[in-house]
Amino acid sequence: MRWDRARTVQSLSKSQTNNCHLLVLISGSGTNLQVIIDQCKNGTIPAQVCGVISDEPQAKGLQRAKNARIQTTVVDYHCFDDRQSFDHRLGQEIDCYRPDLVVLAGFMRILDAELVERYYGRMLNIHPSLLPNYQGLNTHARAIAGRATEHGASVHFVTPELDAGPIVIQGRVPVLPSDTPESLAQRVHQEEYRIYPRAITWFAQGRLSIQADRVLLDGRPIDICA
Ligand code: GRF
Repeated sequence: MRWDRARTVQSLSKSQTNNCHLLVLISGSGTNLQVIIDQCKNGTIPAQVCGVISDEPQAKGLQRAKNARIQTTVVDYHCFDDRQSFDHRLGQEIDCYRPDLVVLAGFMRILDAELVERYYGRMLNIHPSLLPNYQGLNTHARAIAGRATEHGASVHFVTPELDAGPIVIQGRVPVLPSDTPESLAQRVHQEEYRIYPRAITWFAQGRLSIQADRVLLDGRPIDICA
């Protein structure tokens, strides 16, 4: 499938909305995963986590999934000869779960462009900055070094360009003069736990679409600062 920015994509058809399957990709501690699991379980997010994939065998999030009796798969980058064979296997494993939505929650590998294109409109990421500010790594330290007064997190649809896809929602926090990257990260995390479930819920309710690279909620341009 060719990448087409002008394409219109509906998140989920109305007929699928009562049975939305989430596949969560992680590399680390999985605190966002935990919030998603809990909120699916208590009905706040109208969806279910059908599986968790990690590229890191020691990821703490795998235990969180196992505790919740969710199927897990490890695709360990170090067991592959090259990037291409890793990407190929990861794509196969993702497809196996037949997810309605792929949720990147601290997944630290850059995904293959073909895979991203295939899942365009069905793959969300959370990034710890107010995009387009601070794409890439070490966002909290960079916000402090750049004397930003405000920082936060963004949920966006994933496109082949890193941290640059259409934004669904952002959460803002102040940067305090006393902040360290750790204290700022903690405050941003709290916002992540608020905005990611909200974005996933909208998707699961079939209320999101993308038109010419802009996200619509119920057919209207979205206010990303909700
Ligand atoms: C979050 O800060 C998220 O924004 C970033 O990776 C971190 C994952 O944290 N993409 P956790 O594993 O959910 O605790």
